[in-house]
Amino acid sequence: MDMMELLRTRRSIRCFLDRPIEANKVALLKEAAIRSPTSRNLEPWEFVFVDDREMLEKLSVCKPQGAAFLAGAGLGVVVCADSTKSDVWIEDCSVASIVLQMAAQSLGLGSCWVQVRQRTYEGQVTSAEYIQGLLGLPEHVQVASIIGVGYPAEQREPRTSEALNWARVF
Ligand SMILES: Cc1cc2nc3c(=O)[nH]c(=O)nc-3n(C[C@H](O)[C@H](O)[C@H](O)COP(=O)(O)O)c2cc1C
Repeated sequence: MDMMELLRTRRSIRCFLDRPIEANKVALLKEAAIRSPTSRNLEPWEFVFVDDREMLEKLSVCKPQGAAFLAGAGLGVVVCADSTKSDVWIEDCSVASIVLQMAAQSLGLGSCWVQVRQRTYEGQVTSAEYIQGLLGLPEHVQVASIIGVGYPAEQREPRTSEALNWARVF
């Protein structure tokens, strides 16, 4: 599929088959992540590839809503960065997150973004702090998102051209 076709057919997928992702595809996802462009080429990001079911279940409760589907994903890629290395680590992580999603799409996999930055686990504990604790990340490594990936167990219709928000383009 060419890039326009991938963009036209991609939808967020939150239901996954109980089917492991082949090692060669995981390897390609890793390569895609670290091919992401970064500001000043500083590469502040770090990616934690999680396929352990128990850990995915723990990640799925990192916030009250919008992360539960991770429990059924084949893979969760925790996208984080050393925030001391770049003042635009958030942008770099966001670019890497969408690169991962498009790479997954090109490999016949579905994916969905879980927003972590600025979200709360419980009380005063942020989702990022909860994940830092789970994965043993140092304090300066901030978590931006988790990309849940797996073989789709749902089919979502691509948006038609008429449904697009053309009014936002000037
Ligand atoms: C920055 C960002 C954060 C998102 N966070 C979540 C999330 O926490 N949980 C979730 O289920 N989907 C999340 N999504 C997926 C969006 O809900 C989804 O992309 C949007 O509804 C458009 O649907 P589509 O991806 O199928 O085109 C996020 C997407 C983006 C770009």
